Amino acid sequence: GQKGESLASEAHNAPAPSMVGTSVITLDDLSIEQIRELLDKARYIDTHRKEVAHTCDGRVLATLFYEPSTRTRLSFETAMLRLGGKVIGFAGAQLASVTKGESISDTLKTVSNYVDVVAIRHPKEGAALVAADAASVPVINAGDGGHMHPTQTLADLATLRSRFGRVNHLTIGLCGDLTFGRTVHSLIETLCRFGDVRFVLISPKELRTPQYVLNRINATEDCSYVEVSDLSEVIGDLDALYMTRVQKERFFNEDDYLRLRDTYILDAAKLALAKPDMAVLHPLPRVNEIAKEVDDDPRAAYFEQVRNGMLMRMALESSVLGDELPGFADHENK
Ligand code: CP
Repeated sequence: GQKGESLASEAHNAPAPSMVGTSVITLDDLSIEQIRELLDKARYIDTHRKEVAHTCDGRVLATLFYEPSTRTRLSFETAMLRLGGKVIGFAGAQLASVTKGESISDTLKTVSNYVDVVAIRHPKEGAALVAADAASVPVINAGDGGHMHPTQTLADLATLRSRFGRVNHLTIGLCGDLTFGRTVHSLIETLCRFGDVRFVLISPKELRTPQYVLNRINATEDCSYVEVSDLSEVIGDLDALYMTRVQKERFFNEDDYLRLRDTYILDAAKLALAKPDMAVLHPLPRVNEIAKEVDDDPRAAYFEQVRNGMLMRMALESSVLGDELPGFADHENK
């Protein structure tokens, strides 16, 4: 098996290789150094909002969302606006020419003439890769079916780092719909690259982690997993608990969804069994899986994740466009 690559997050090494022109379909498209640089850039952006406000002047982002979204689309768009760029796109395919039978390929060949970077969300696994192959500008996967959601993982990594000062040497529980939850697949894939993570996979037997994701853990010498179905039994061992929604839109059968949707509900009583500094993450939207009373607990990190999502998308958009953040290089070399 592979050993995880070092994060060395506080060491100021040489700049990471340029990300200009890179499409991001999975975070495997970026090196660990590039991911580390994005984390550093997001932290810099957070405290230098005015300095970076014209980084992407004259740039245009297209958001092509063939599936519903609140956070991902709005944060991709806000990120570009806050960097001085502009945004076009559609939210819901019903008003786009896909309804007339246009292919993803033709849409991307068209939109490449209009914009400098594209974010695409689509219900089909692999759609973002098809889009990137057709486009002549960088394409960022904003979620392709039950497959991957790499920019959510960037938000998750930023949140883990802000809570623990690192993203590994941790026991991380992932709970809920591990079959269809694309955020889980992206996060596991990337954490395996950092290495030294113990995964506790908590799901009903019908919603277990896909084999291709488990293979990734098996191939990593310093990562391991256990599969369990009872959250209360394991919550006390966890450094972080990543809750997920049961993905109604990916079920073939309504009865199965209704039977499984409320399997796990994190409430104050369950949280009382957890470590005092455990972090609760959730990509959102939530339905019932985290009780509202948990929001006031300092362990709740899910709205921090939302904020980190916007900052990480600012870092990624400027990086794939090759637009330098004013002052960042000097700041890092200090
Ligand atoms: N986390 C996430 O992808 O949220 P949206 O579906 O609202 O974009």
